[in-house]
Parts: sequence; C-alpha cells; structure tokens
Amino acid sequence: MNILIMGPPGAGKGTQADVIVKEFGIPHISTGDAFRLAMKQGTPIGIKAKEYIDKGELVPDDVTIGIVEERLQQPDCKKGFLLDGFPRTLAQAEALDQILGRLNTKLDDVINLKVDRDNLLARITGRRVCKSCGASYHIVFNPPKVEGICDKDGGELYQRPDDNEDSVRTRLDEYSNKTAPLLTFYENQNLLRHIDGEQDIDVVSQNIVSLLRG
Ligand code: AP5
Ligand code: ZN
Repeated sequence: MNILIMGPPGAGKGTQADVIVKEFGIPHISTGDAFRLAMKQGTPIGIKAKEYIDKGELVPDDVTIGIVEERLQQPDCKKGFLLDGFPRTLAQAEALDQILGRLNTKLDDVINLKVDRDNLLARITGRRVCKSCGASYHIVFNPPKVEGICDKDGGELYQRPDDNEDSVRTRLDEYSNKTAPLLTFYENQNLLRHIDGEQDIDVVSQNIVSLLRG
C-alpha cells in the first residue's frame, strides 16, 4: 500500500503517520524528519536545508526530490510506504509520479487532514518533540506522563526552532501558496480523501485506518 498524507503544518501528519505505519507495517518517509537528521549530523544537505527551515521556507525542489528518490529505491519500500510532507510543490508531485513510474508502482491513496488555521498555530506552538526518538507531544492536547520526558524512551523533549510564531506564519503561507494547489492535482487523479483532523487524535486515527481498509 503506497500512501501519501497531506495537510498544513501542524495538522497532525507526523502523529497519524506513526499510527498508520504500525498498522500497515510500511516505512515512514518524512522529508521534515530527514532534514532534521541531516541538520543534526551537520551534513552538506543539512547545512543548506537549515537556511530555509529555520525561516519556515520550503527547501529547494532539487535537494528534496533527490532525497526522496534515493529513499524510495530502498528494498523495504517494495512492500509499500507512507510519504509525509512530500510532495509540497507541483514540481515535486510531478517528479514523484515519474519516480514511481520508473519503479513500476503508483500512489494508492492520498489523505488530506483538514484543520483550521487558528488551531494550527496553537498546535504548533505547544508541540514538544523527543530528542532521541522524534515522538511528538503537545503540552495541552497530548501531554507526556512526566513533563519534559518522552513516554516511550525517557528522552528529553524540546521545542523545534521553526515552531516559533514568525516561522509558523511563513510555513502557513508557503502551504497556501505552494502546497494547497496539490489538492486539485490529486483530486484530478481521483486519489484524494479528506479526513477531519480537528477531532481527538484517536478518533482521527480510527477514521484514517478504516478509510484505508475500506
Ligand atoms: P515538516 O517537519 O514536514 O513540518 P510541517 O509540515 O510544518 O508539519 P509539522 O511537523 O509542523 O506538523 P504535522 O502535521 O506533522 O503535525 P504533528 O503530528 O507534529 O517540515 C519542516 C520543514 O522542512 C518545512 O517547513 C520545510 O522547510 C522543510 N521541508 C519538509 N518537507 C519539504 C518538502 N517536501 N519540500 C520543501 N521543504 C520541505 O502535530 C502538531 C501538534 O499538534 C503536536 O503537538 C501534536 O501532539 C498535536 N496534535 C496532533 N493531532 C492532534 C489532534 N487531533 N488534536 C489535538 N492536537 C493534535
Ligand atoms: Zn522518545
């Protein structure tokens, strides 16, 4: 099963991706996570990506497409995959179709998580992420059992540098201008399925899983 999960920043893509990949036993491909790892390791891609990510701007297409193409060629993607945060521009979506065509496969479902702009800001500014496993929490909506500590592995929770109000506003504008047009692109391919992302995390998960099983 080849799935793409879309939605504006803070819609819950990463949170739901964790559930979907467990449920279907497929790898999770997140360009945001890939860039954060590259930044942590200080690789040339990480250094370049940081210039854009800290400001909330999209990383250039050539860099991003190269990362995904390499990842999709790995043998574990033969059993299916979940793409999260890619594609984000029309050029990336067209490149993805070409890459999948070369691999003799295609997308099966595109899920769009719908959440209002006001809620997105509250979600992102309250988010805390585990330094060791990357799990995402929220200080109000999804708090860890012990403040500042990851439930799964005891890792320290931190706030992403791009989760400040200025960067978030830029990210939301980038989404509206460059990513939202992809909804029409996938609607035209008859792949797009909308999910109400405003409900409780567990309810959203159940709705996604039953939609994908349907
Ligand atoms: P990326 O890491 O993909 O960030 P994003 O799209 O801005 O998405 P987020 O991670 O902020 O949100 P999410 O939807 O995953 O929400 P989450 O589940 O954490 O990208 C970061 C940057 O990398 C980009 O800005 C760009 O610069 C660059 N980049 C990445 N991909 C790129 C590409 N393809 N091209 C170019 N540049 C690229 O949830 C958010 C919070 O809400 C959490 O605290 C969570 O606990 C809470 N929450 C989740 N669901 C619910 C719910 N149902 N109710 C209440 N709270 C909830
Ligand atoms: Zn953790």
